[in-house]
Amino acid sequence: MKLIAGPASTEIAYKMASIMNENLIKIDHKLFPDSENYIRVPEKVEGEDVVIIQGTHPPQDRHLIQIFLMVDTLLDLGARSVKLVAPYLAYTRQDKRFLDGEAISFKIFLKILHKLKVEKIYTVNIHCPWIIPESPIPIVDVRGEIPLARYLQLNKLNNPVVVSVGKKGVEMAKMVAEALGVRYTAAQSERDRLTGKVRVELDGLPGSEAIIVDDMISTGGTMIELIKILKSRGFKKIYATCIHGLLIGDSAERIFNAGAEKIIASDTIPNRYAEYSVAEILVKALKNNND
Ligand code: R5P
Repeated sequence: MKLIAGPASTEIAYKMASIMNENLIKIDHKLFPDSENYIRVPEKVEGEDVVIIQGTHPPQDRHLIQIFLMVDTLLDLGARSVKLVAPYLAYTRQDKRFLDGEAISFKIFLKILHKLKVEKIYTVNIHCPWIIPESPIPIVDVRGEIPLARYLQLNKLNNPVVVSVGKKGVEMAKMVAEALGVRYTAAQSERDRLTGKVRVELDGLPGSEAIIVDDMISTGGTMIELIKILKSRGFKKIYATCIHGLLIGDSAERIFNAGAEKIIASDTIPNRYAEYSVAEILVKALKNNND
């Protein structure tokens, strides 16, 4: 197997290669003056089963194009197969037609990768797990709650309540809470598709310390609404945790202003709050599914 570090994810690619004790091929990449991507595979890959490690976090479209260029070039150079480790998958929030006439972006993205002959995709906490059974490419979705809980165990916690949000949140909170041996509760959230404003409702559990667990922090709107509710109910210390720290614009600052003690994200997306790593669980998945 040959591991390939795509331009978007060199840091996590190095971590994975070091855990696996494998060499890493770092793709030569530059941007032309007009912003087009230049890609070159600097080593022989003929006859090899290659694994590209490249997330599709912002700038998503640039990172996607890089994947398309890498996959096709590797196969053209004689690679036997190409798998993709995309720690964060873009466009997963547009997995269906919410309004008439919308593009079903994630399905289109999968269709292109399938046409390019990507054999398998590994990712972390996919936003739309319900799409996996109908995906044209097998998708292995690994769970970031495990390393998150391990990281939280290292912090001095005082009987916190784990608070989840959204449809998949309950399962996430349960996993983290059980690993920590604490209680959990779930909030319902609803986003206005046109204005983007989030409404959050939370059934209370009393306490003074809370760990909010979400699959991603994007604009921070959901996290901020939850922090406000928890503050109004007397919670003093609130940890804002997630798997994917997209943290768009000044969202981190606004989350701290709302009263968060700490923001904790994984390294699926390079960001300054990446406190724990998913490299190990991705390596485990690669080894278990290497067929
Ligand atoms: C919703 O389904 C997700 O779990 C997140 O709560 C949401 O995507 C976070 O987005 P934002 O940070 O923009 O509120």
